[in-house]
Amino acid sequence: SGYITLDSGYKNTGATESAITFLDGEEGILRYRGYPIEQLAEQSSFIEVAYLLIYGKLPTVEELEVFTNEIKIHTLVNEDMRKILDGFPSTAHPMGILSALISSLTAFYPESLNPNQSKEEANLTIIRLMAKLPTIAAWSYKNSIGHPVNYPKNKLDYCSNFLHMMFAYPTEDYQIDPVVVKALNKLLILHADHEQNCSTSTVRLVGSANASLYSSVSAGISALWGPLHGGANQAVIEMLEQIKADGGDSKKFIAKAKDKDDPFRLMGFGHRVYKNFDPRATIIKKAADEVLTALGVKDPILDIAKELEEAALTDQYFVDRKLYPNVDFYSGIIYRALGIPTDMFTVMFALGRLPGWIAQWKEMREQKEPIGRPRQVYVGEKERNYIPMNER
Ligand code: CMC
Repeated sequence: SGYITLDSGYKNTGATESAITFLDGEEGILRYRGYPIEQLAEQSSFIEVAYLLIYGKLPTVEELEVFTNEIKIHTLVNEDMRKILDGFPSTAHPMGILSALISSLTAFYPESLNPNQSKEEANLTIIRLMAKLPTIAAWSYKNSIGHPVNYPKNKLDYCSNFLHMMFAYPTEDYQIDPVVVKALNKLLILHADHEQNCSTSTVRLVGSANASLYSSVSAGISALWGPLHGGANQAVIEMLEQIKADGGDSKKFIAKAKDKDDPFRLMGFGHRVYKNFDPRATIIKKAADEVLTALGVKDPILDIAKELEEAALTDQYFVDRKLYPNVDFYSGIIYRALGIPTDMFTVMFALGRLPGWIAQWKEMREQKEPIGRPRQVYVGEKERNYIPMNER
């Protein structure tokens, strides 16, 4: 104590040792538990990656089956949760609903509040969260459009089940398109962990006070909602729409982003750690082309995005500051092609990031980390005497 190093935004502060995700921002490398993101995105499934992140190894056939089945048993949420959902106006942002409902899981599973849960009990809390978040997420969408909710269909795999709860109507048969399932798996894998980012650090910090996994993840969802973090995927589409409505002149918006008197930033550009390229953006850009072609979707904002990227990458301002497209630049275009509404994009990010939050929370607990409690440099008033109201 006595001497405090100030590091606003923790730009250069290591908060923990971690064995989950390796990230090299200079080289543009991202690996989960040692496996390159490119291999996982191409060959794995989201549920397998979730297992890898949470338990530290790729599952065997039997282990994956047990994990998958455990999750399926818990996909229903308590009917009383629907009453909470009903209380929200249809205009409520689904991220606010998601955070509130995940936090209210503590009321239905009070045993999760016990920081000394046995290993088995702690694992059940994890399984319940993996199982129920997609149900709650899809229900928040149904609430926003005033439609009845869909109950989970447990014969479906994790991603297909989510799509069913999002898009099936009681009056029609819903055909799940394998192109959509594959694209969704890929997007969720790419978002599954990213070491000590803002929301993950929030999850670990809240959890370090021995708060429950549900409360910790609810806090992480709130952090992710911010437009400088996960909310950027929604902000990117809104920006591209704005450019399109304005006549499609990307140069004009590049100039706005460079103007320090204009609060406008090029959303989906720049990253705290990647200073060369974001390997996830490379995969997503390619996937955006593939998915739109496979689905026969023509989206003019994909062309605007490409133009904007090209203009920014050759502009000295962006070159000097090493600003490149990040994971959020193209992800929204794919989500749009899959039929996911814009205000659900950040919820999709949360769905993907969930296994990362869980793995990081579990690691923090297993490492018996102390409560997080940063210090400060005080710059306020020196001691002064209280002045009675009538003398002020
Ligand atoms: N458009 C215009 N200028 C930018 C941008 C941008 N998108 N990003 C950074 N800059 C400038 C910034 O003004 C600063 O310039 P100067 O040195 O002249 O003052 C310089 O680049 C460094 O930026 P910074 O804000 O100090 O960098 P940071 O590490 O604190 O912020 C960031 C990183 C991601 C918050 C920021 O790049 C940003 O706001 N990007 C847009 C929002 C976005 O896409 N966020 C998603 C991030 S990736 C997924 C996720 O984390 O969820």
